[in-house]
Amino acid sequence: MIQLNDEFYIGEGEIRFCYEHPHNKQLCIKIPRPETTREYTNKELLYFKKLSKRNKSKYSYPFYSDFHHEEATNLGLGQIFDLVRDETTGEISKTLEYYLTENNIIEDKRLKQALDVLKQQMAKHKVFTRDLRARNICCKLNKDDSIELIIIDGIGHRDFFPFADWFHYFSKKKVDRTFTKWHFDSLEDQRQFLIKDAKK
Ligand SMILES: Nc1ncnc2c1ncn2[C@@H]1O[C@H](COP(=O)(O)OP(=O)(O)O)[C@@H](O)[C@H]1O
Ligand SMILES: [Mg+2]
Repeated sequence: MIQLNDEFYIGEGEIRFCYEHPHNKQLCIKIPRPETTREYTNKELLYFKKLSKRNKSKYSYPFYSDFHHEEATNLGLGQIFDLVRDETTGEISKTLEYYLTENNIIEDKRLKQALDVLKQQMAKHKVFTRDLRARNICCKLNKDDSIELIIIDGIGHRDFFPFADWFHYFSKKKVDRTFTKWHFDSLEDQRQFLIKDAKK
């Protein structure tokens, strides 16, 4: 059984806690909060199962943190995902929220470009998210000075009749709507949204 403790803690949200995998630096383990239902986790894992059939060699970069398998830990059953690390330092990548609110080393123009690439990849490969918040996206810093935005949480969608899974036209519309809904049409709008959200 995997032993987790504070030494491996990365962060947490409303659904789960995230830890570095003690034996593999490229992976993280997510532990659902006690109030998170198994049904919720199962739904998410089902969507990843569907995604596993995608041809990933066609992705321009790995734009979401993929699910691997489940493992028992001292804190309960955990879900193992890719851990996002900066290529420049090997450190765990910070979230887009961090770069929008706490550290302005990345120019807005570059963040906007990276968001456009993420959006295009999501539409092209029909990968949807129900929770496109800046804190659910990691910003990976690469050695060649490029950045990559990687979705770490919220993958999946609830549409009963999933047209968007089949036709590019619908898939692009759906991704456009998601970006608008989560205030990503401009970074000014996104910053305003984060300020309002923090006050709640
Ligand atoms: N794959 C990952 N790579 C790097 N950091 C991560 C990763 N997954 C989660 N984190 C960090 O842990 C926090 C909580 O994880 P998250 O999966 O978003 O939990 P929740 O589902 O409860 O919102 C994130 O906001 C981020 O800071
Ligand atoms: Mg989250």
